[in-house]
Amino acid sequence: MFSKACIIGDPVAHSRSPMIHNYWLKQLGLAGSYIKAHVTPDQLPHFISQMQSVGYVGANCTIPHKESILKLCSHVTDTAQALGAVNTIWFDNNQLYGDNTDVSGFLGALDYSSPYWDKNLKKAVVIGAGGAARAIIYGLMQRGIAQIHVVNRSIERAQVLAARFGSKIIPASFDDMSIALENAGLLVNTTSLGMKGQPPLEIDLAPLKSGAIINDIVYVPLETPLLKMARDMAQAKKFKTVGGLDMLLYQAVDGFDHWFGVRPVVTDELRTLLQKDIAG
Ligand SMILES: NC(=O)c1ccc[n+]([C@@H]2O[C@H](COP(=O)([O-])OP(=O)(O)OC[C@H]3O[C@@H](n4cnc5c(N)ncnc54)[C@H](OP(=O)(O)O)[C@@H]3O)[C@@H](O)[C@H]2O)c1
Repeated sequence: MFSKACIIGDPVAHSRSPMIHNYWLKQLGLAGSYIKAHVTPDQLPHFISQMQSVGYVGANCTIPHKESILKLCSHVTDTAQALGAVNTIWFDNNQLYGDNTDVSGFLGALDYSSPYWDKNLKKAVVIGAGGAARAIIYGLMQRGIAQIHVVNRSIERAQVLAARFGSKIIPASFDDMSIALENAGLLVNTTSLGMKGQPPLEIDLAPLKSGAIINDIVYVPLETPLLKMARDMAQAKKFKTVGGLDMLLYQAVDGFDHWFGVRPVVTDELRTLLQKDIAG
């Protein structure tokens, strides 16, 4: 049977998800396709209501639909409910299910690139307080990290996350960055700073613990100014760097499994394909 899936967004032209899912379809010899669907907020309810009848088994959802699609699902996972956002939908028994796989994407990327990263990790710092930060905070809480400092330009948004996720979340503004970073073993940038066309995230990494992991979830460019700075200090501070591409790759695994019934593998070949595309 030929199965179709898509990414629903507005805009959607920039998405690299088709490259990932079509690679797996081909590699696994499955009859199916994954396309980009440009759907505006006005068009969303109609698009969702006719998806199954035109052959879709599910979809990814990106900006600006992640919150509105949650209300259109019959069932959402605990993760999507806790985050208030859905990025993956699928049909089961004619019912629409929703999940947020940014959490498994973030955890999968760190598990792959830094096995046992969470073993003795007591203090993590998340910079940013938007949608991606929520998923990452939730993932860190699942792994039992005791202190999660959330540093945001507007401290109010970090305070909202502390109210949502509880006392392990310590909100701070950029003015208190160095206090937040003091002796932390993991730093995750979830702001758009450092992305192609955006200013860099300019912070002093010296207060971080020796051996800390610096993870930038921005993946265009593959090495952001933050990761370059961490790499330059790697010898002195034994820092380890993790780019954003693997989060993108690992968040796709659960969706593919729901739609096409096979759990795909993030291969070196797939990683290289995306790296070449991003590097242009
Ligand atoms: N690797 C992956 O798979 C993956 C997955 C999801 C997202 N991402 C990337 O993560 C980034 C954030 O996505 P999102 O969905 O969380 O976006 P979002 O909800 O719009 O949040 C954006 C965050 O960036 C901060 N920010 C933006 N411009 C800033 C500036 N000039 N100075 C300081 N802070 C600034 C915002 O701070 P304020 O609250 O003060 O505005 C906010 O905390 C994007 O670059 C996205 O591509 C990557």
